Amino acid sequence: MSAQELSGSTALVTGASRGFGRGIAIALAGVGANVVGVARDRARLEELRAQLGDAFTPVAADVADPVVAGELTDIYHPRVLVLAAGAAPLSRPLHRHTWETFSSNWNTDVRQVFHWSREALLRPLDEGSVVIAFSSGAALRGSPLSGGYAGSKATIRFVAAYAADESERAGLGIRFVSVLPQLTPATELGAAAVAAYARRAGTDLATFTENLGPPLTPEHAGKAILDLIETPAPGEGAEAYLLTSGGLRPVP
Ligand SMILES: NC(=O)c1ccc[n+]([C@@H]2O[C@H](COP(=O)([O-])OP(=O)(O)OC[C@H]3O[C@@H](n4cnc5c(N)ncnc54)[C@H](OP(=O)(O)O)[C@@H]3O)[C@@H](O)[C@H]2O)c1
Repeated sequence: MSAQELSGSTALVTGASRGFGRGIAIALAGVGANVVGVARDRARLEELRAQLGDAFTPVAADVADPVVAGELTDIYHPRVLVLAAGAAPLSRPLHRHTWETFSSNWNTDVRQVFHWSREALLRPLDEGSVVIAFSSGAALRGSPLSGGYAGSKATIRFVAAYAADESERAGLGIRFVSVLPQLTPATELGAAAVAAYARRAGTDLATFTENLGPPLTPEHAGKAILDLIETPAPGEGAEAYLLTSGGLRPVP
């Protein structure tokens, strides 16, 4: 999608109240998109509305709710759908999880990507629309302190690839992409995980953070998502990209 097409079109971003989703909402509004931001924290969404003005429409809702996915898809009919919301996993080793804490990312992150991808295909969104689902670098390596987090994020990558296949088979022209960010202390979710892994390694937080390299910020995420939307899809293969402070790289 060209920058010109993006300007004036509707982009719906989940997880817009903070972190990557907020950075992406700001970047999209910056290029003239009408951004609908969804998260549960109404006050934080209103703060962003105060910052971005009419370019931003806040919607306080639970993105894992299928009715929310259906209603908001019908109302806003987005050209760009960024599924950046995600539950913060409880940072504990396996045996200190309960099934409920172990499965929290399945019940929010996977559920969200399943419901919204389904709505995008069923409605369907217009030809040329883009759906971007947030997976994680943990999907490639595991995350031993985060219960079912890494497995849920691997499933999100599969769901995006399955949806891309269904779009192609039905000739819908909807692009489905997954993005796998590196661990970063620059968001609330990431900061809690970094602190837990530093404690487990017996390393002080500053040293551990420094060893992770230049941090991926919400601003980097915003720029990367614009790049992704504006770059034509490669001819073949499922689209999945690692996201670091250096930008996007296709997952081998
Ligand atoms: N930060 C990292 O190191 C990292 C690395 C790899 C992947 N990721 C992924 O990147 C995505 C964004 O993470 P982040 O680091 O930006 O996290 P964050 O700062 O904790 O933000 C998470 C966002 O998700 C929203 N959210 C959570 N549950 C929700 C629900 N049920 N309904 C609606 N909104 C919900 C939160 O809003 P409310 O609380 O207001 O609802 C918030 O806006 C997540 O999918 C995460 O797994 C992050």
